[in-house]
Amino acid sequence: MTYLPGENRYQGMLYNRCGRSGVQLPAISLGLWHNFGGIDIYENSRSMVLRAFDLGITHFDLANNYGPPSGSAEQTFGRILRDDLKAYRDELIISTKAGYYMWPGPYGDGGSRKYLLASLDQSLRRMGLEYVDIFYSHRYDPKTPIEETMAALDQAVKQGKALYAGISSYDVEETAKAASILRNMGTSCLIHQPKYNMLERWIEDGLQDLLEQEGVGSIVFCPLAQGLLTNRYLKGIPGDSRAARTGGFLKANDVTQDLVEKLNELGAIALDRGQSLAQMAVAWVLRGGKVTSALIGASKTSQIEDNVRALANLQFSDEELARIDGILLG
Ligand SMILES: NC(=O)c1ccc[n+]([C@@H]2O[C@H](COP(=O)([O-])OP(=O)(O)OC[C@H]3O[C@@H](n4cnc5c(N)ncnc54)[C@H](OP(=O)(O)O)[C@@H]3O)[C@@H](O)[C@H]2O)c1
Repeated sequence: MTYLPGENRYQGMLYNRCGRSGVQLPAISLGLWHNFGGIDIYENSRSMVLRAFDLGITHFDLANNYGPPSGSAEQTFGRILRDDLKAYRDELIISTKAGYYMWPGPYGDGGSRKYLLASLDQSLRRMGLEYVDIFYSHRYDPKTPIEETMAALDQAVKQGKALYAGISSYDVEETAKAASILRNMGTSCLIHQPKYNMLERWIEDGLQDLLEQEGVGSIVFCPLAQGLLTNRYLKGIPGDSRAARTGGFLKANDVTQDLVEKLNELGAIALDRGQSLAQMAVAWVLRGGKVTSALIGASKTSQIEDNVRALANLQFSDEELARIDGILLG
């Protein structure tokens, strides 16, 4: 059936400026790491992307290797673009990345110019796009001079194959170097994509201050710790959950008794705030306005709807923050 986006799609979303750039990103973006691959049900993947767009989520995050199999999430997204979202390309921010293993031999992994630029061409073909909005170095490669990796991002932008450059999971020192090299080439670093959630807070230790100084935005991945920071695992491991699937990074034995007790305590705070645990986890990464966007994943449209409702309460009292810290750090 022909898709027509919701007319009110821009009314319920919050848009945050990405660093010192002209771009605004939705406070909640959707990532296609899991549940959009060739092994997944196309109709469900399509429904999630379209529901997200209806809710004002204008940013979709991909990478060359998302699937499985690798590349297939970009194919799925390309099909949705072609069939449903073609007319709305200019309302979308689409990102992709290269940096992890993608093809055999010496040129399908890492941070070389050879790999990044060939991979970007492949991503554009899979998605049927002329350009992506953001092209990322997916991870720092210590074996490639950082100048070469940044020159590849700069070239992608200057060729018009990407509008902006980004880096993912670079530490503080690597980020400072990357931002300075890019600036000297005349292509500023738009955005950093680090992991951040209530259970993993490393970016508070210097990275956030650096990004602020440099005018670089941030989009944080795994704000729900892959689903741990939700009600998903409070009563065991559901058969349709990520922890029950084989081959992923979240393992059943990550769901420890100790963690479940803490999640229940966090759930009580969420309840007091009128939120689900997932909503509180999303609100928590966005608190104080330091993070541009929370990059969620989902396996069902209802999860996206639940998470977007987090925007109704992004304020935390000092007491709530102290209670959360007491549970997780105390
Ligand atoms: N740059 C990088 O190196 C990197 C690495 C990882 C991820 N990422 C990006 O970040 C995106 C998000 O990562 P992620 O999927 O791990 O994020 P996440 O938001 O932490 O976890 C998503 C999972 O949480 C569960 N979930 C979501 N909303 C829920 C709700 N309201 N109630 C109950 N459960 C809920 C679902 O699990 P079930 O599937 O069990 O239902 C969903 O698949 C990726 O798609 C990718 O774009 C980037």
